[in-house]
Amino acid sequence: MADASKRSMTLTDDATGKSWKLPVFDGTVGPSVIDIRKLYSDTGYFTHDPGFTSTSSCESKITFIDGDKGILLHRGYPIDELANKSDFLEVAYLLQYGELPNATQKEDWVKHITYHTMVHEQLSSFFSGFRRDAHPMAIMCGVVGALSAFYHDSTDIHDEEQREIACHRLIAKMPTLAAMAYKYSLGQPFVYPQNSLSFAENFLYMTFSVPAEPYKINPVLAKAMDKIFILHADHEQNASTSTVRLASSSGANPFACIAAGITSLWGPAHGGANEAVLKMLMEIGSKDKIPEIVKRAKDKSDTFRLMGFGHRVYKNYDPRAKVMQETCREVLAELGIKNDPLLETAMELERIALQDDYFVQKKLYPNVDFYSGIILRAMGFPMSMFTVLFALARTAGWVAHWQEQFRDGEQKIGRPRQLYTGSVQRPFLPVGQRK
Ligand code: SDX
Repeated sequence: MADASKRSMTLTDDATGKSWKLPVFDGTVGPSVIDIRKLYSDTGYFTHDPGFTSTSSCESKITFIDGDKGILLHRGYPIDELANKSDFLEVAYLLQYGELPNATQKEDWVKHITYHTMVHEQLSSFFSGFRRDAHPMAIMCGVVGALSAFYHDSTDIHDEEQREIACHRLIAKMPTLAAMAYKYSLGQPFVYPQNSLSFAENFLYMTFSVPAEPYKINPVLAKAMDKIFILHADHEQNASTSTVRLASSSGANPFACIAAGITSLWGPAHGGANEAVLKMLMEIGSKDKIPEIVKRAKDKSDTFRLMGFGHRVYKNYDPRAKVMQETCREVLAELGIKNDPLLETAMELERIALQDDYFVQKKLYPNVDFYSGIILRAMGFPMSMFTVLFALARTAGWVAHWQEQFRDGEQKIGRPRQLYTGSVQRPFLPVGQRK
C-alpha cells in the first residue's frame, strides 16, 4: 500500500460528540484517499456510495485519469502519444509490466502472443449452438467463458507461469474469437490466423478475407485499427474492469473473470455505447433533427440520453475522442468517403451540444464512443461488432488489472455491505392466515 501520509481525517458523530481519526494515503498524483477499512469495526457505521462515485476500490499503478483536465496516462505515458507513436501489443506489454519493452522484450512478447492466436479446434463447434443472428457479444460471453474448459494448464491462479500463459492466451485469442463470431453471423467459413501478420492486420484478415480470393491488407486501415485498439485498451477502474477485479477476488479462473468483464462491458451505458451512438446518429438522420434530439436529452422526464456523451470521470473532453476524431478523418479519406452524413451529423451534434448550457453546466463532452462507430462502420463492421472490438482491446487492460490484483497484498474477496431498509424480523404466517 502507498505510504500513509502524516495527515489524517477526523470523523465526528454530532449526536455523541465521539470522534475517530482516519488515516490518509497519498498517491503519486491525483486525489488522496481516506482509509476506512476499520470504520465499521471502530464506529459500527458503513459508508454509502452507490455507483462508487467517491470510492477507491484498490491501489493501482496502471492508468491515471485526470477528469477535469482530460488527461489519460498509461504507466505515465499520455494516450495521444501512445496512440500516435506506439502499437497495441506494445501498449498491452506496458500495461502488463509497467515499462515499454526494449527490442528483445518486444520480440519475445509478440512471439508469445502470435503463437497463441489459434483456438482449440473443438471451440469452433461451440458457435454452431448459437442462432446465426445471435448478438456477437452473447457469443463472446459464452465462448470466452468456455475457454476455461479447454485450457486447464493455465487456470491455476496461484501459479505465476500459468497466470502469464493465461494472459497471453486471452490477448491472443480474443481477435480470433471475435472474427469467428463475425464469420458465423455471415455463414462464411472461419479464417485461421496468419502468424506473418501483425495483430491488427491479422484481425482484419480473419474478419474480412474469404478463402475464394486473396485478401489485400490496407496499411492505413490496419494502422487505424491498431490505434482504435490502443484507445480502448484500458481505463482505470471502469465498470467492466471492476467486474473483472471483483470476479477475480473470489479466485475465479482468468477466462471466467474476462467473460464477466465482457458481460459488464456490453451495457449501453458502458462499452455498448458505441453501437448506441451509431443507432442514434442514424435515427437523427439529418441535421435539422438535432435540436429535437438535444431537447430530449435534456428532458428529465425522458430516459433518452445523448449516447457517446458524458462520463463519470471526464468533466472535460475525453482525450481518446480527440484521437478518434482524427482517425475518423484519416479512414474516411483513405476510403474516399467525402462528407459522410453520419460524421457531419456527429460534428454538428457536438457543436450544438457544446454550446448548450445544459451540457456546459453538467460538463458533458464527447467520450471515446462518440466517433468510434463511424470509423468502424466505414471499415465494414456491422454495429453489432462494435462492442466486441471494444472487448477485444480492453482484454489487455483487464488482464493487466487481473495480474496486478494478485501482486497487491492488500486485496481480499470483494464483499460490499448495504443500507438495509427492508422489513424487520416478523413471524411466518401459514397461507390460510394471510390477508
Ligand atoms: C465508457 O468508466 C469508464 O471509464 C468508461 C469508459 C471506458 O473506457 O471504460 O470510458 C467507456 O463507458 C464511456 C461512456 C459511454 N456511455 C455513454 O456514452 C452513454 C451516455 N452517457 C451517460 O449514460 C453517462 O454520461 C455515463 C453513464 C457515461 C456517466 O454517468 P454518471 O457518471 O453516472 O453521470 P450521471 O448519470 O450522474 O449524470 C450526471 C448528470 C445527470 O443529470 P442530473 O441528474 O444531475 O440532472 O448529467 C446528465 C444526467 O442526467 N447526463 C446526461 C448524459 N450523461 C449524463 N444527460 C444527457 N445525455 C447524456 N449522455
